[in-house]
Amino acid sequence: MSIAHSFRVLTLCGSLRNASSNRGLLAIAQRVAPPALLLEPFAMERLPYYNLDLDQPGSEPDVVLEWRNRVTAADAVLIATPEYNGSLPAVLKNAIDWATRPPGQHVFAGKVVTVMSSGGGGGGAKALGYLNGVLPFFGNTAVTEPAIELKKGAEFLQADGGCSDPSVEPSVRDRLANLLAALEAR
Ligand SMILES: Cc1cc2nc3c(=O)[nH]c(=O)nc-3n(C[C@H](O)[C@H](O)[C@H](O)COP(=O)(O)O)c2cc1C
Repeated sequence: MSIAHSFRVLTLCGSLRNASSNRGLLAIAQRVAPPALLLEPFAMERLPYYNLDLDQPGSEPDVVLEWRNRVTAADAVLIATPEYNGSLPAVLKNAIDWATRPPGQHVFAGKVVTVMSSGGGGGGAKALGYLNGVLPFFGNTAVTEPAIELKKGAEFLQADGGCSDPSVEPSVRDRLANLLAALEAR
């Protein structure tokens, strides 16, 4: 039986390692998502580094056009990312840079965006703070509750979504319910 999804959610993982706990957060999200949300991943590491010489109308790399089309087709973006040196991992910053050019007519505007983090000792708070601070500038609505800032998440969360902390799955479920509510309210 096919499920009628109402909203498309692009999912992005800021960690490239196979055993990533942030990949685990996305695996949990896939498991508990309301039926109205269709979660679809994009592998950001396929993108070249942002370069305005490449970003010329009509001659952008195919993968950049694919990325921008995927963002355009999505109603929402779900990001799970670690914090690297008090900021974003380069692969995530690079993908955002591609999605937010050219200024004033880029494809990232108008998306509902929700960000969660499995970080180090700080739970990824600086990465979350940066993203949630800059999203309104890009024209996005940010869904931030309940907070999901896992301190040393890699110690208890596996990439397949296995997790020894019983509070994580309910938080992800509630966050996706809030994401759906924000999408329905638009
Ligand atoms: C280059 C690098 C820089 C890091 N910088 C920070 C940091 O500034 N703050 C923090 O809380 N954790 C930091 N960490 C730790 C990661 O956030 C942590 O290992 C995280 O759980 C990794 O996510 P993953 O399991 O999805 O790979 C850093 C890790 C790396 C590899």
